[in-house]
Amino acid sequence: MQIVLTYNLKKEDKTKPPDYFSEYDSKETIAAIVFALQSKGHQVETIDAVETDLIAYFKKNHPDFVFNIAEGRPGKFRESEVPAILDYLNIPYTGSDSLSLAIALNKALTKKILRAENIPTPRFQLFSKGTERLNRNLRFPLIVKPNREGSAKGISVFSVVNSEKDLFKKIREIISLYQQEALVEEFIEGKELTVGILENATPTVLPILEIDFSNCQQSGEYFYTWRMKEYQGNRELGLVPIFHCPARLDKKTEEAVKDVALRTHRAIGCSDISRTDIRLSHDNTPYVLEINPLPGLNPKDSNFPLMAYAAGMKYEDLIETILMNALLRRRRFLESIRSN
Ligand SMILES: Nc1ncnc2c1ncn2[C@@H]1O[C@H](COP(=O)(O)OP(=O)(O)O)[C@@H](O)[C@H]1O
Ligand SMILES: [Mg+2]
Repeated sequence: MQIVLTYNLKKEDKTKPPDYFSEYDSKETIAAIVFALQSKGHQVETIDAVETDLIAYFKKNHPDFVFNIAEGRPGKFRESEVPAILDYLNIPYTGSDSLSLAIALNKALTKKILRAENIPTPRFQLFSKGTERLNRNLRFPLIVKPNREGSAKGISVFSVVNSEKDLFKKIREIISLYQQEALVEEFIEGKELTVGILENATPTVLPILEIDFSNCQQSGEYFYTWRMKEYQGNRELGLVPIFHCPARLDKKTEEAVKDVALRTHRAIGCSDISRTDIRLSHDNTPYVLEINPLPGLNPKDSNFPLMAYAAGMKYEDLIETILMNALLRRRRFLESIRSN
């Protein structure tokens, strides 16, 4: 097939904040996906979703399929842009559609849907001004995060607060720095888990990944902060989390965690691939923090490929499975409109 890979490339630009490009893709990731697709016999072109006039490009080049990992141009609906344009031009693509991507990018909205589905998620409150009154049902410690970012942007050890004074200081800081609402959640002590779903005709839950920060005490970091993600593996900084895949869980808890991730994937309407972040409280409740329908796909550093490897897959097979499932979805869709 003729495939176009759409991405946002990480850049060196000292005029931007240090976390500006954190959600973007490295050259290494892009090259690995291209290589994987070519190794399965596809022809591949690559385009940067920020640098390219996508509408002009796709009107001229009508590929068989788009492999989409693009974050889109900065904004509230950035991840939805590429799928929306491709739907308009009737070009099939891998991964979730514009609706699921827009919902998943909005953590508070995702949590409202999870609550309606009886999926555990930490209690929360959304602040858009920073002058609202704190909901008295929320229990400290609380964590403050931007409502519509990823890669732990805006999240540090100082995001966890124990007093109202510190809470409102942090809320105002987030609103002004990230120009968006601040999401305040109860901080869940316990295990950090992330669960990959890879659809292969049917949704399949990969072995659960547990990220253990007990080795990182020297760094001062104790959960998946921006620094932890950005400098993961740096021994000098002491940012050396241990990855357990499968996670160290008893069978019953493992099943409960997998079930919650699968229900989250379905509730948000994700397609082909997703990664759900979970904190397992000391009483074994799997609290869903968020779902990532565009999880990082760096073959060495990203969480999702680690889970695929633990399931016995090679990187090329992971990429091909995403594409083949999207193709199957497309065929089913075309058949359904033909039979109507
Ligand atoms: N309510 C919470 N309780 C405990 N840890 C949290 C909570 N919210 C976020 N975290 C920590 O911060 C990390 C990043 O938060 P997350 O909501 O997944 O945002 P992002 O989209 O930036 O990954 C999580 O993986 C976890 O380590
Ligand atoms: Mg996360």
